[in-house]
Order: sequence, then C-alpha cells, then structure tokens
Amino acid sequence: MNHFESVGGVLHCEGVPLPRIAQALGTPTYVYSSATLTRHLGVVQRAFANTPTLVCYSVKACSNLAVLKLFAKGGAGFDIVSGGELERVRRVGGDMRKVVFAGVGKTEAEMVAAVRAGILMFNVESAEELEALDRVGRQLGVQAPFALRVNPDVDARTHRYIATGLKTSKFGVPVDEAVALYARSRRMKGLLARGLDCHIGSQLTDTRPVRQAMARVGDVYKALRARGFPLTHLDVGGGLGVTYTNETPPGVADYARAVQEPLAGLGATLVLEPGRVLVANAGVLLTRVLYRKKTPAKHFVIVDAGMNDLLRPALYEAHHELRPVAPRKGKKATVDVVGPVCESSDVLGAARSLPPLHQGDLLAVMTAGAYGMSMSSSYNSRPRPAEVLVDGDTHRVVRTRETVTELMRGETP
Ligand code: LLP
Repeated sequence: MNHFESVGGVLHCEGVPLPRIAQALGTPTYVYSSATLTRHLGVVQRAFANTPTLVCYSVKACSNLAVLKLFAKGGAGFDIVSGGELERVRRVGGDMRKVVFAGVGKTEAEMVAAVRAGILMFNVESAEELEALDRVGRQLGVQAPFALRVNPDVDARTHRYIATGLKTSKFGVPVDEAVALYARSRRMKGLLARGLDCHIGSQLTDTRPVRQAMARVGDVYKALRARGFPLTHLDVGGGLGVTYTNETPPGVADYARAVQEPLAGLGATLVLEPGRVLVANAGVLLTRVLYRKKTPAKHFVIVDAGMNDLLRPALYEAHHELRPVAPRKGKKATVDVVGPVCESSDVLGAARSLPPLHQGDLLAVMTAGAYGMSMSSSYNSRPRPAEVLVDGDTHRVVRTRETVTELMRGETP
C-alpha cells in the first residue's frame, strides 16, 4: 500500500497534488511520502515483534538525510556499506549501537571511523578483511565486534545482477569455512565475535530460498554457540521484493514466518536489513514530456528524466509503471517513453500503452523510491534531480536540484 492516489483525476502524494510540486520545483524531481515510509517501517517492526529484532534500514536504497531521519525517529538502525553512509547516519543522530557495516571492500580508514563511532558490528566478508579488522581493533585498543557473512549457496531466483547468495558470487565466505574462521578469530585480540550474517539477494519474491538459507545459517549459528562463541545476533540481510508490475512478493507476515520458523529456539537477536520494501513504493520520479516523435517504426515520447536520474530500467531492464499525472481522455497509444541521454538504453518504458500525452504533460515513474536517486549520476552533465518529502498537505525540499556549477565542483580546466 502507498499514498499515491488519484484525486479528481490528478495524481496526489498524500494531500499534495503532484503538479503543485512540479510547478514549484521543476522536473525531474523525486517525491517521497512520509506516511508510506513510516507505515512500512512499522509493518516490518510489528511483523517481527514476537522475537527480539533490530530493523536496520539499508541506507543504499534511498540515502536522503530526511528519509534516514524519519527512520531513526521510528527506532530503526541502519545497514551501511561505506564511510559515506556512516557519516549520513551520524548527521541524522542515528543510534550507532544499531548500525551494521557490510560490503566486501571496506578500507581500514572506514573501519577506524566505524569502530570509533561504536557500531553494533562489522559484517566481514573474507579472511583478509577479518585480519584487517583485527589490526584496526588492536591499534585502537578495542575488540571490534564482527559477524562473518556466510554465503549459504542458495538460488534466490532474482535478477542475476542482484543475487548474492550463490557460491559463484563475490559475497560472503563459504558456509563450511565459517567455523574454522571463527576459530582463527579466537587468536586475534582485536576482535569480538558478536554475530553471524547472510544476505541472499534483492527483490526476492519467493520464500523458499529464504527458508533454505535460514536453515543453513541457523545450523552454523548453533555450531558456533556450541563451541563457545558468545554470539548474540543473527543478521538475516534484506531482500524482500516489491510489486513493480505483476510480481507477487510474499507479504511481510509470510516473510517473517519464513525467517523465524527455521530459526525457532535459537535465542538470537535477529537483525534485518530491509531496503527496497521500506522505500520503493514510497517514492516516484516526476518527469515532464518534452517532445513527441513518430518514426515509421515507433512512437516516442521524450521526457526530461533519463537513465542518469533513474538507472534501473537501463541497468536491469527493470519495469516501472508510468502514470500520467492528469490523464487525458482519448484513445491509448503504444509508445516508448525515453530520456534525453545519448544512449539507446535510455528508455524509461518500452511499448507502453498510454493515454494521449502532450508536450508539458507530467508523468510519474512509479515505485522509484528504492535505488532511484541513490543510483543517480550526472552522466551527460545533467544535474541530479531535486528530492521532496511530502507530509500530509505540505511538501518540503529535502535536496535541492544540483546545479551545473555543483556538478563541476573540484574540476580544473
Ligand atoms: N543487505 C545487504 C548486504 C545488501 O547487499 C542489500 C542490497 C540489502 C541488505 C538491501 O536489500 P533490499 O532489501 O533493498 O533488497 N540496485 C538494485 C538492488 C541492489 C541491492 C544491493 N544490496 C536494484 O535497483 O534493484
């Protein structure tokens, strides 16, 4: 469920008509609903209320400070993957004791910053990274808390670019090497074994691989506890999918059962790292029709948002619904909605059946809250979009549109 609905033939975000935002700020602009964001966090928290659980929002999905602030206020922790994301959490006053730090390539400088900040744990992805973290811990005179990310070797049945739990993937360490690595960590004085971690992929629409992965990591967790490691946290990653077109992802309650049932009686505090499910349908990318062009082969609608603003269609052939903000009456036509970037993959939607569109009309690219702005770039020297947060009848700019001067910052001719 979300808070983008048509009222009197005009698409609104909560109580705000989208044309009002386009008028005030121009396009392309990302628009987020605070009601949807808050609701989704609550739904996930409540679904896991019967087990000690820490919900760590995956910052990479949408890293705007206002979104982070809202989640921090809602009691969320954060899943970070860089020193930059650590700084974002700090800026919004996030609780560092609820932060987990993932990623295969953390630098020692990033580790130092995160140890100093007092995060809950590092999700370590290789033996060499474990040694580096040990060095950092000893230098700082502390025991750096860690979880090993194990790769459970399950097929998450998702797009190959975002499946992470197969044995061919760069993520985690093989399940059967985990116990030996924890054993090695006993001799490393700069480390404290706090948990175990896994993440099998993103945009999961099937609970079976989740259950399979949980059963495997649950066994490892038990084996480690039996060997005397003082583990308290089992991080099950993120990945719950959303509906972009006709996918039917499990509901949050089904997902919670798929996580909890194989782990029953383990006594661990669960850590969740949801990203997409919290923010995807809480955001749209608002764009305006620039031109129309008919060729003998196709009917193109050229809009002012491109693959630099929303990369998902070009990178994953992802489908995002395109909704005219104030649909005109008349016969629908099949059109390709394309952006201004000089790449043939700059297509927001191919072969879409849409009502008549005129120059200046607004379109909302739906379900763009996750991995939209956070993956944007200034390719083609296009300033990145503005971001707006709606709350009831009001909207607030939470990131100003980039300027051309800003996008050249640091360059010397
Ligand atoms: N935890 C870890 C270790 C991750 O790698 C990810 C996402 C998450 C949590 C959050 O996953 P989520 O709940 O959002 O599925 N850019 C792609 C998605 C990349 C996901 C990367 N890792 C897309 O636009 O579909």
